[in-house]
Amino acid sequence: MTPGVRPLIAGNWKMHGTLASVRELAEGVAAGTAPGADLLVCPAFVHLSPVAAALQGKAVALGAQDCHANPKGAHTGDVSAPMLADLGASFVILGHSERRADHGETDAEVRAKAEAGLASKLTPVVCVGESEAQRLAGEAEEVVAGQLTGSLPDGFAAAGGVVAYEPVWAIGTGRTPTEEDIAAMHARIRAELEKRFGQAGSTLRILYGGSVKPGNAKAILALPHVDGALVGGASLVAADFLAIAAAA
Ligand code: PGA
Repeated sequence: MTPGVRPLIAGNWKMHGTLASVRELAEGVAAGTAPGADLLVCPAFVHLSPVAAALQGKAVALGAQDCHANPKGAHTGDVSAPMLADLGASFVILGHSERRADHGETDAEVRAKAEAGLASKLTPVVCVGESEAQRLAGEAEEVVAGQLTGSLPDGFAAAGGVVAYEPVWAIGTGRTPTEEDIAAMHARIRAELEKRFGQAGSTLRILYGGSVKPGNAKAILALPHVDGALVGGASLVAADFLAIAAAA
C-alpha cells in the first residue's frame, strides 16, 4: 500500500455471465461491506445497465472493459466512452493483455482510448505487464516502463488514472510472481509515474492483477506501492471478491 492512498479492488468479469447471474453477482457484491477499500466491478458491455441498476445507491463503482477511441461514428460493433458514461460507468479498463493479444491493441491505441475515456470523465485503468518470455529474459521492467510511456496520456495523472500491473503469465493461471518481484515492479512503476507526472504520480493507484485470490490477497496488498487489485476469476464469486477487499 501507499500511505494515504485508499485501495481499489476491481473485478474484471470479462466475457462471463448471464443477465440473471450478473444481477445476482452485483447484488452479492453490493450487499457486502469493504470499509478499507473502494470497490469496482466491470461487467461486459451488454450487462452494464442491469448491473448499474443492481448497484443503485450502493458504494460499488461501475466500469467497462474497453472503449473506442472515437466518441461516435461508423464503427460497427464498437462502444464509445460517452455511451459508457451515459450508462453510469465511471471507470474503463484499457489495454488489458487479452485485448492486446486478441485484438492486437498497441500502446498508441490504448493511449487514444484512454484519452477518449478522460474526455468522458471515465477513470482509465490502464493495464501493463510482461510475457513469461520477457520476464525470463530479464526484460520485464523495461517492457512495462515502455508500455507506460506509450499507453498513458498526458492528462492521466490529473484525472487520477489507475495503472494495473498484470504479468500476462499470471492471468488465470494460478501462478503469481514472488512478493519481491511484485514489490520491485510496483516500485519501478511508481518511479516511472513520478518521472512523468511529478508529485501527482506519487499517489496514483497501482493495482496488481493476476491470480489474486482470498488466500494470497493479504500478502500482496501489504506490499509497498500495491494500492489494490484487479481480479478476474475470483471476482465472479461475490464472497471471494469481498474477502479480497477485506484483506485491503
Ligand atoms: P485472474 O485475471 O484474476 O483470473 O488471473 C486477472 C485479470 O485478467 O484482470
